[in-house]
Amino acid sequence: SNPSLLILPGDGIGPEVMAEVRKIIDWFSAKRDLQFDVSEDLVGGAAYDKHGVPLADETMAKAQEVDAVLLGAVGGPKYDDLDFSVKPERGLLRLRKEMDLYSNLRPAQCFDALADFSSLKKDVVAGLDIMIVRELTSGVYFGEPRGIFEEGNERVGINTQRYTESEIERVARSAFELAMRRNKKLCSMEKANVMESGILWREVVTRVGKDYPEVELSHMYADNGAMQLVRAPKQFDVILTDNLFGDILSDCAAMLTGSLGMLPSASLGAPMANGRPKALYEPVHGSAPDIAGQGKANPIACILSFAMALRYSFDQGAEADRLEAAIEKVLADGVRTADLLAEEGVQPVSTSEMGDAIVAALDAS
Ligand code: NAI
Ligand code: MG
Repeated sequence: SNPSLLILPGDGIGPEVMAEVRKIIDWFSAKRDLQFDVSEDLVGGAAYDKHGVPLADETMAKAQEVDAVLLGAVGGPKYDDLDFSVKPERGLLRLRKEMDLYSNLRPAQCFDALADFSSLKKDVVAGLDIMIVRELTSGVYFGEPRGIFEEGNERVGINTQRYTESEIERVARSAFELAMRRNKKLCSMEKANVMESGILWREVVTRVGKDYPEVELSHMYADNGAMQLVRAPKQFDVILTDNLFGDILSDCAAMLTGSLGMLPSASLGAPMANGRPKALYEPVHGSAPDIAGQGKANPIACILSFAMALRYSFDQGAEADRLEAAIEKVLADGVRTADLLAEEGVQPVSTSEMGDAIVAALDAS
């Protein structure tokens, strides 16, 4: 049977960028004979409007069954005053929690045509292609005890950094598997010099590494890692780190490469019966209410998220390469949505024109 894909466009620009992904999916089905069982459903504010909840139980059940979920974005001003329990982002959080997506993949990839967008010198980032693997379901954002407590005559705010061996082991394994599919180089970042969880992290990662003797493993203190990311990012291939450091390092790495409209992500969980991980793919950006409904959104982040699905859920690495090359070609030709405009006098294309240009580049590939 065909691989299955659940599409959740969501709110704001989510449906606009997802319409362009649909064109790409149709192209692969017509021209490469790659068929997917695609179903579509509601999430976020759109689901709240219909069901009174940001993710219906039936949608959750479907997400658990498919090979991959592709999500647009959720949220918007219309929903800002809703009760916390039904806010749009709760739909996304429910997906991540119930699918137990502990491994968050954030690529930082620099398309040559956009190297001028980087906050760094062009030669530092040209050709950059690194992947940050961030632990997503544990660590200091979840550890107990947490809270604001009375202590003597003042209050104290407490969070707890806490990692079990099995939590470290499963995300490490996912990072090593990724390194095996890429350039067999992995750098693990923590602060083993000052944190107990960092000592355990380094020990467990080293132990898991014994199962992957081909992967060149190194360790770095996360603060040095932040410096190195900005000084010489091309020294890295896969970076593995915890939830807190990963939050910061992945945002930092993202800005090495430019616009929010270009950044995809994947969140992976435990392997399913077919051996592939549970997976949710989504652009890093939100629903962009300031430009929603105007045809201005850049669909590339969402299209690159589908490329990640091709690579990591559907075992179609060569087709993912083809799609990324088509995007590279379109950018090299100077096609730009408004968020990518640098040069004077260049006219921006619309969301749908960008999708059409990528399909045309695929046709020429
Ligand atoms: P945002 O990412 O939606 O927008 C930030 C800025 O980047 C805006 O100026 C927007 O126009 C621009 N932008 C974002 N994506 C773009 C694209 N594809 N093409 C061109 N420009 C793009 O973040 P913001 O404004 O903080 O949040 C807006 C709403 O989105 C809120 O309701 C927020 O809760 C939600 N949100 C949802 C996320 C998700 O679904 N994963 C992630 C972040 C925010
Ligand atoms: Mg962040």
